[in-house]
Amino acid sequence: PRLDARGRYVLPGLIDSHVHFRTPGLEYKETWEHGSRAALAGGVTTVVDMPNTRPPSLDEAGISAKADRIAGRSWADYRFHIGADPDHPELLADLDPRIATSAKVFMAGHHTAPVVFRDGEQLRRAFAAAARGGVRLVLHAEDQHVFDLLDVSSGAPDSYGQYEPHRPRSGGIVAVAHVVRLVREYGTKAHILHVSSAEEADLLTAAAAEGLPLTFEVTGHHLSFTHDDTTRRGPRTRLSPAIRDSRDQRRLWQAVLHGQAVTLGSDHAPHTVEEKNRPPAEAPPGLPGVQELATAVWTGLHTRGVEPDEAALHLARLMGDGPARLFDLPGKGRLEPGADADLALLDPSERWQFSARDVMSLCGWSAYEGWTFTGRFTTTVKAGHVSWDVRTGFAGRPQGHWLQGAARSLEVAR
Ligand code: NCD
Ligand code: ZN
Ligand code: ZN
Repeated sequence: PRLDARGRYVLPGLIDSHVHFRTPGLEYKETWEHGSRAALAGGVTTVVDMPNTRPPSLDEAGISAKADRIAGRSWADYRFHIGADPDHPELLADLDPRIATSAKVFMAGHHTAPVVFRDGEQLRRAFAAAARGGVRLVLHAEDQHVFDLLDVSSGAPDSYGQYEPHRPRSGGIVAVAHVVRLVREYGTKAHILHVSSAEEADLLTAAAAEGLPLTFEVTGHHLSFTHDDTTRRGPRTRLSPAIRDSRDQRRLWQAVLHGQAVTLGSDHAPHTVEEKNRPPAEAPPGLPGVQELATAVWTGLHTRGVEPDEAALHLARLMGDGPARLFDLPGKGRLEPGADADLALLDPSERWQFSARDVMSLCGWSAYEGWTFTGRFTTTVKAGHVSWDVRTGFAGRPQGHWLQGAARSLEVAR
C-alpha cells in the first residue's frame, strides 16, 4: 500500500522498553503474536521484554530458548531484559551482551516470586556483578517486602527531602533510596521502573543531578489514572506498584514535561478477565497497555494544553531517543540517516472512543475501555513496509527480529 502521511506526524517507530509478553509458559494470558500486533497498532515497533515467565529467563540458555520460540512470530523487533537470578547474581559479571545488556531485579514479590530478591546481601552481589559486567539493572523497587529484605524497620530518613513513612501506599521510596545508596557505592547503571510517587521522582531527579548513573521510567497507567479511578473501576486496575493520588500523578507529568523521566513504558502485563475478577487479595496485579500507551500519553499531553509539535517531541524522546540510548538500540528511536525504516504515523487530532473491540492483546480487555482518545496511530511502517494500517489491518508476514547487543569490545570494562 502507498504511504499517505498528509496531516500526520511521522514519528520514529516507538520503543516500549517494558512489556511482559508472557512467553514462555504464560501464553494463556498473552501470546507473542497478539502482544506484538498490539504494539504495532499503538505505534510501537520495538519492545524490550521482561523475564518473569514460566520458567523465568535467568540465564543465557533461558534467553536463547525464548528467542527460539519467538522467531518468525513477532511483528515488532525485540530485545530481552534477562532476569537477575537472586541465587546466582554473579552471572551478571560476564553476561554476553548479545544475550542481554540489561537485567531485571525484582525487589518486591507477588506472583513473580521465583525471581524476587530475598535479602540485602543478594542485592549487593547483583549490584557489584552488574557494575563489573557493564550491565544496566532495571528495577522493580517497591516498599512492599523491602522492609524485610533490607532489615530496616521504619525507613531511615534519606538525604533528599521528606520521607513520609505513614503515608498510605507509600510506593517505593525506601526501596529507591536504597538503590541510590548502592549505585553510589558500586557505580552500577540503574533504571528504576514504574516510578509511582512524587517522593521517588524528587529523589531520583536529585540523584541524577548529582551525576549518578540513575534514570527512571514512568508508565502510562500511572500518568492516566489516580487512586480514585482505581477505586471506581475496581480490582481490574490494580497493579504493582499501586496507582496513587493526584498529587503524585501531577509530579509524574512534570517528570515527563521537564525531561526528568528518560523512558515511558507500558508495563504491558496482561492477565485474563477471570484472574482479574478474583477477590482483590488473589487477583494478580498488572494491566495490558502496549497498544494504548502512546495514544493515552498523547491524549494526556493534549488535555494539559501541550501543543502538538511539542507533544511529538516528548513522545520521540521518551519512546525513541531515550530508550534507544539507554538500551543501546542502534538504528532505532531516531529519524536520521542510516536509521531503520520503522515509522509510526499519528493523526494528531482525531477523537475516538476506545472499546474492548479495539483490544489486540489476547487478554481482551483494557483499563481504557470507554475512554475518548485524542490522536490516533493510523499506519505503522516496519523495515520499510506498511505492516499495519488502521483501515486495512496487518499486511504481509511478521517482520520482527531479535536485536542482540553488540559483542563486547575490550575497552568497555569500566
Ligand atoms: C507485572 C506482571 O504481571 O508481570 N505486574 C504488575 O503489576 N506490574 C509484574 C511487574 O512488572 O512487576
Ligand atoms: Zn514491575
Ligand atoms: Zn512490569
